[in-house]
Amino acid sequence: KKIFLKDYAKPDYLVEHVSLTFALDKTKTRVTARLSVKRNDGAAADAPLVLDGEDLDLVAIAVDGKSLGEDAYTYEHNVLTVRDVPAAFTLETEVLINPDANTKLSGLYISNGMFCTQCEAEGFRRITFFPDRPDVLSTYDVRIEADKSAYPVLLANGNPGDKGDLENGRHFAEWADPHPKPAYLFALVGGDLAHKQDSFTTMSGREVTLQIFVQPHNLDKTDYALDALKRSMKWDEETFGREYDLDIFMIVAVDHFNFGAMENKGLNIFNSSCVLASETTATDGDFELIESIVAHEYFHNWSGNRVTCRDWFQLCLKEGFTVFRDQEFTADQRSRAVARIRDVRRLWQRQFQEDAGPLAHPVRPESYITIDNFYTATVYDKGAELVRMMKTLLGPEDFRKATDLYFDRNDGTAATVEDFVGAMEEASGIDLTQFRRWYSDAGTPQISATEAWDNGTYALTLTQHTDPTPGQDDKAPRHIPVRMGLIGPDGPMVDEKVLQLKEESQTFTFDGLQTKPVASLFRGFSAPVTVKRELDTEERLRLIAQDTDSFNRWATAHAFAMDLLKSMAGQQEMKNSHEALISYAKAIETIITDETLEPAFRAEVLRVPTETDIGRAVAQIDPDAISEARRKFRRGLLETLKGTLSDLYTANLVNDDYDPGADQAGKRALKNAALALLMAEPSDTTAELALRQADNATNMTDEAGAVSLLAQSNRPEREDALSRFYDKWKHDPLVVNKWLVWQALAGGEDALDKIIALTRHEAFDMGNPNKVRSLIGAFAMENPKAFHRADGAGYDLFFEKVRELDKRNPQVAARLLTATEAWRRLEPKRRDMLGSRLKALAQEDGLSNNTFEMAERLSD
Ligand code: ARG
Ligand code: ZN
Repeated sequence: KKIFLKDYAKPDYLVEHVSLTFALDKTKTRVTARLSVKRNDGAAADAPLVLDGEDLDLVAIAVDGKSLGEDAYTYEHNVLTVRDVPAAFTLETEVLINPDANTKLSGLYISNGMFCTQCEAEGFRRITFFPDRPDVLSTYDVRIEADKSAYPVLLANGNPGDKGDLENGRHFAEWADPHPKPAYLFALVGGDLAHKQDSFTTMSGREVTLQIFVQPHNLDKTDYALDALKRSMKWDEETFGREYDLDIFMIVAVDHFNFGAMENKGLNIFNSSCVLASETTATDGDFELIESIVAHEYFHNWSGNRVTCRDWFQLCLKEGFTVFRDQEFTADQRSRAVARIRDVRRLWQRQFQEDAGPLAHPVRPESYITIDNFYTATVYDKGAELVRMMKTLLGPEDFRKATDLYFDRNDGTAATVEDFVGAMEEASGIDLTQFRRWYSDAGTPQISATEAWDNGTYALTLTQHTDPTPGQDDKAPRHIPVRMGLIGPDGPMVDEKVLQLKEESQTFTFDGLQTKPVASLFRGFSAPVTVKRELDTEERLRLIAQDTDSFNRWATAHAFAMDLLKSMAGQQEMKNSHEALISYAKAIETIITDETLEPAFRAEVLRVPTETDIGRAVAQIDPDAISEARRKFRRGLLETLKGTLSDLYTANLVNDDYDPGADQAGKRALKNAALALLMAEPSDTTAELALRQADNATNMTDEAGAVSLLAQSNRPEREDALSRFYDKWKHDPLVVNKWLVWQALAGGEDALDKIIALTRHEAFDMGNPNKVRSLIGAFAMENPKAFHRADGAGYDLFFEKVRELDKRNPQVAARLLTATEAWRRLEPKRRDMLGSRLKALAQEDGLSNNTFEMAERLSD
């Protein structure tokens, strides 16, 4: 059944307060709920009370203490309806649930022997009967009872209350959350957990206890997250004026989790891969990711929890804004330029791809079958770009005024995108009427830039167009901020400015120039658009060398590399492509050897687009041609840069004690990027260098950097390096996940057979989403040669696993299917094979709603 934004109606009943008692038991947990219910303003006096409930075994139900007979209510199709209720009353229900059988990992389930919950978006209804929608906000108190020796730690949202012993070796703990919240922010944990503790004093002087709970053997991997948490709390006070509001803030790490982490009020629950880190087990990239996810979930305390969403169509209101906030945090903690490059790379990889295919949808979708399928790059990452564009249009001061206004006015309520954009307008006086199209219209605007030069006057014409997307044929022009500058032979010729592109086509003129400039457009990626323009090699080289915007120096080099790769893959004509490759190599050589530039930036410039990246940029995907083009491109670069790369490698060895911060991480990134290119055609010496790095490494960044490159090579040392790595790390599931990924990405004729063999390996487990993503997800998304194998065997493996997983965990199964979203651009033979498999899946009986919705949209 499809749900539409336009059908939104206020709830008939609100729940002001919730009292929950959990008697935890693996297979028969008893949940008793007492809800203080009140009829909402404007609801009819005879409106029935309608509650959601899924897989609940109803034991008892009473209104104001009077038990209801079977004729007073119905429970069918996951809805409990109670008729003839008064305007205000107490509803009591008692249900039994089976956490042990909960393989969907939504609701209350068990991970490695501990109880934990995941309620966003619609998991609370799998715990108790409730109006499970985000515009019903309640205060909560919770009592948890459990066996004391198996579950010594019992946690829920809010501040701690009483605790004590009960009979039969059981004990209890009570929690109270005074902040009204929607049910999706509920959380509970029960287990045998150890914790690290610290404290933070807020700007108004309140002391907050900080705790991170983990399985005892992981206690040495919590320091970095705790440190990141304190820095996040401080940053949100300084940057957005937001202070924490409970006595305690807790994070719990769990091994079985459907995605990254969850911002439950005061009790964040994290996928252990997004919180646990030590120098020997986590890479610099893992540390950076953990820092940003800890920040993201913490920032939700205001953007999501204090101000929540009216309905799930407003998901970008909390996610887009919170991603923007975590991106800004990373930019402030590390390098702003490098952070921007990484964020944009990710946007291109996931969001542009989504916007260009069958899954394209607006940042604020208009309909869904299951909201789980809309936790997408468009909602999150494009959603963040829209906030960033508004900041560009308003300027930093008015933007801060606007966020203050938004938080103050909507605190304690369930808001809409309109409330957010309205606050931006009100605080600045800027009219954002046209800008709102960014929320309602899917698709990436394509900008073409043409120029004219006449006697000191430079005229730049920008034209915008957006292709049709599913359900949206015609698109009106959008309001697009174009941050730009003009670069002459010796550098900038004018002050940077922001052009306002609002029409389908507009010309901007600049007079009084001495020579014809090269325009640096969309600096810092000021709008999520693609740009088509004719630049010759000389103009490109000028931007790469002279632009004052480091993002655009990188972006120009990247576009140059992409054009070379496309022409090598036979997808585009290029004159003198051999000379062009040499020019490109020389241009990036200047950057990677420039010691005034940050090593992390130089590493980004040195990184070669992956086969999947190239596939995203071409009109027709031929995986073999792409793979061959990339191979040639890397060898070509290596030929020109060999000496430089060896020097870079040596010059960027780090001898100090390990520190995951940006400085050391940047050096290791540059050194490993140099090694990666040296391994394009590994000589004995290079292979030995990699082996030596693997063996002598004292941190995972260097160890993983070397072993992953050996794993991608066809060197004889490959198997041995992989098996030694496994023997060394088989006790650590997060490290083993890396080992699975490297093999999922490996090339060679027998690549797929090896992946199939790994699905039977002891390290693989279909019940753990991290394992599924590491092996099946990585293979399908990032190993085009194996996935798109000409005989269809890659597709067979993939669909077999999707079907198997759909029975167990529909959310993760449906998510895997996104790997197929570019199928229409495949060369005809593969397109038919993959397309027909998708169509067959969509027709199949017994699919989950999640997988059905994805298969249908994909094959439509
Ligand atoms: N709110 C969480 C976060 O972004 C993610 C929840 C994802 N839920 C889902 N059903 N996919 O921090
Ligand atoms: Zn989020």
